[in-house]
Amino acid sequence: MKDKLIIFDTTLRDGEQSPGASMTRDEKVRIAKALERLKVDIIEAGFPAASQGDFDAVQAVARAISESTVCGLARALDKDIDRAGQALKEAKSSRIHTFIATSPIHMKMKLQMTPDEVVDHAVKAVKRALQYTDNVEFSPEDAGRSEEDFLCRILEAVIDAGATTLNIPDTVGYSVPEQFGATLKNLIERIPNSDKAVFSVHCHNDLGLAVANSLSAVMNGARQVECTINGLGERAGNAALEEIVMAVKTRSDVFPCQTDLDTQGIVSCSKLVSTITGFPVQPNKAIVGANAFAHEAGIHQDGVLKNRETYEIMRAEDVGWSTNRMVLGKHSGRNAFKNHMTELGVEFNSEEDLNDVFFRFKQLADKKHEIFDEDLQALVSEASMESEEQIKLIALKVCSETGEMPSASVTLKVNDQEVSGSATGGGAVDASLRAIESLVNTGADLQLYSVNNITSGTDSQGEVTVRLEKENRIVNGLGSDTDIVIASAKAYINAANKLQAPDLRRHPQNTGDV
Ligand code: KIV
Ligand code: ZN
Repeated sequence: MKDKLIIFDTTLRDGEQSPGASMTRDEKVRIAKALERLKVDIIEAGFPAASQGDFDAVQAVARAISESTVCGLARALDKDIDRAGQALKEAKSSRIHTFIATSPIHMKMKLQMTPDEVVDHAVKAVKRALQYTDNVEFSPEDAGRSEEDFLCRILEAVIDAGATTLNIPDTVGYSVPEQFGATLKNLIERIPNSDKAVFSVHCHNDLGLAVANSLSAVMNGARQVECTINGLGERAGNAALEEIVMAVKTRSDVFPCQTDLDTQGIVSCSKLVSTITGFPVQPNKAIVGANAFAHEAGIHQDGVLKNRETYEIMRAEDVGWSTNRMVLGKHSGRNAFKNHMTELGVEFNSEEDLNDVFFRFKQLADKKHEIFDEDLQALVSEASMESEEQIKLIALKVCSETGEMPSASVTLKVNDQEVSGSATGGGAVDASLRAIESLVNTGADLQLYSVNNITSGTDSQGEVTVRLEKENRIVNGLGSDTDIVIASAKAYINAANKLQAPDLRRHPQNTGDV
């Protein structure tokens, strides 16, 4: 029997620290349910002390999840640990993840603490967390730049205090694979009580090495990897869950461990995270990119037709590509719709919410014959976003003709008042967004505009992401429609709404408290 490699997903916590990727409580619950279906072992649902919103989200995930362990992050502070303990109270299985920085630069400049004080805080934090759960994880933040002797000292002390998982974060993405693997090996060998804890890694991708560093650590004794769907996360992101899991599965000849994940759910989970956060997946992204299994060169196509293993090391079906099934159609009734949504992990807060999404589904089914799970997820996202929006799209008319300057007229409802405007532009999308901007005056810079088809075919819904930046604040707007000009308008309006809402950015490592 091979060892088990524990998959700890932090899409809802570190992933949410990507600029513009904030998620609502209900969105977090939807993603958590998808992660549970994927059989992720531990779901880090958020940082409860960061805000009431984060607390509520962790609590909601804790209530909704029964198969995976639900984890909350806490600095090594009593107040953080107590908040995490309270938020996780109703979880069937819970973990508190507490951390404090251990690199010389962080201890001196950020914490302004001596190494002795840091050890003291860490031990106290672990003991306090044990009052809430016997499943306590400790992370020496910036371990990648910490001194090995000091890591040995603090890790030995927290194991003695009762921590059962020791997570070694490469917080700033500074490590390289051979050296990071050697660090893990040394820590496990040198710490006298290391056999009483599981060693874990948490790698950031600043040098594009997060997955390589994590796998090198696994080769050297780590038995938990912290990762995120699509590699989402602070700055350049975290190690991508799908890459870790498929590397270990595909190269089972070299890895001494295996995961319990149901890999066929990977693609739909990736699409859900991308839809909810507004972070598109690049086409050439490993495993979940649209081109990951597409063969363009004739010589490759010829080889694959003769024997797929000539150029394919994994089967697209094994990660959930081409499992797209038509799930509902024009004639599906409200009950079938509701049951299917429950299977997808979507629960409606009220009959009114269910009716709203069912109505949108019927409208879509009139335009598009086959409705897939991805279409339904996009409808739910759209409905939940629009219900809170102060700016709403009422009507859009575009005129695009060869040899003529495209123009757009738009009517919006802004704080319950209808306003109309028009503009011309380089194309139908440009004219529409200019017309909207003339009414909402965000004054923001457009940083990204991207269109993806949600499913295949020319009748597919286009999913548009618009990223706006204003005074250092970044928001992602999303819109989907079978007409990409309308999808673009919806995405721009969604981003404008987010800019109007209070700024809820939370960065646990940067709060300056410890
Ligand atoms: O990157 C990091 O150090 C973290 C810790 C909180 C584990 O996210
Ligand atoms: Zn991190």
